[in-house]
Amino acid sequence: MSNFNFSVINFSCIDSTNSYAHQLLQSKKVEDWTVVRTDFQVQGKGQIESSWESEEGKNLLASVIIHPKLKVEDQFRLGKIAALGIKDYLDSLSVENVRIKWPNDILIGKKKIAGILIENSIVGKLINDSILGIGLNVNQTVFKKFKRPATSLRLETGQYYQLTTVLEELLEKIHFRYLQSNANPSIVDKDYLDSLYGVGMQMKFKDKEGEFLGRILTILNDGRIQLDKLGKTYTYELKELEFLI
Ligand code: BTN
Repeated sequence: MSNFNFSVINFSCIDSTNSYAHQLLQSKKVEDWTVVRTDFQVQGKGQIESSWESEEGKNLLASVIIHPKLKVEDQFRLGKIAALGIKDYLDSLSVENVRIKWPNDILIGKKKIAGILIENSIVGKLINDSILGIGLNVNQTVFKKFKRPATSLRLETGQYYQLTTVLEELLEKIHFRYLQSNANPSIVDKDYLDSLYGVGMQMKFKDKEGEFLGRILTILNDGRIQLDKLGKTYTYELKELEFLI
């Protein structure tokens, strides 16, 4: 066991743990590994201005505050750290087929089990504060129909999980990847690429020109994805590309 310390601010209901973490950072000095956690969010935020829905008390809804002092151009590393931390945690529970869908959704097979929303505040050329917002489906068994179906730990393993234990064990994994990323970033880069959903396969995507069959080539350091489309290389930002499977 490491001697890693964190502190948790717990709520039963809040607008969004990311929004609360943001307010906290505006109002005072906040220690690294301060975590805001809630049972329910009224306005849970997802990527690209979407929302994040979760049944009350069933899932992990948490925002982890760190002060990574990373260069702005390396900010995508935070997404890799959070995604790999979640993947490591799921692997440790022997959940099979855990993949990271670019940029940082966590899938089991083709179903989404976790989403990450990272919000950074930048001072000069450095990231001063970072909020790692994590929604991990744990004990929920019924989900609305989304474009991509959802799953949970309970659905995958048949077991019930204590959310406090899930948070503690997950934070250990994220902290490990954080230290690893400072000491040896190339391992984090390699593990991220090796864990990517669809890497090396022909897959159906959609860009502003329509649907196409493409192949992921790599992920650039700034987080953009490079695909092969009809023998040519194209580079996309998150908003510019949709995975159709
Ligand atoms: C996504 O996949 O779109 C990202 C979802 C991130 C959801 C989490 S839940 C805890 C934290 N607070 C929020 O409002 N959002 C993140």
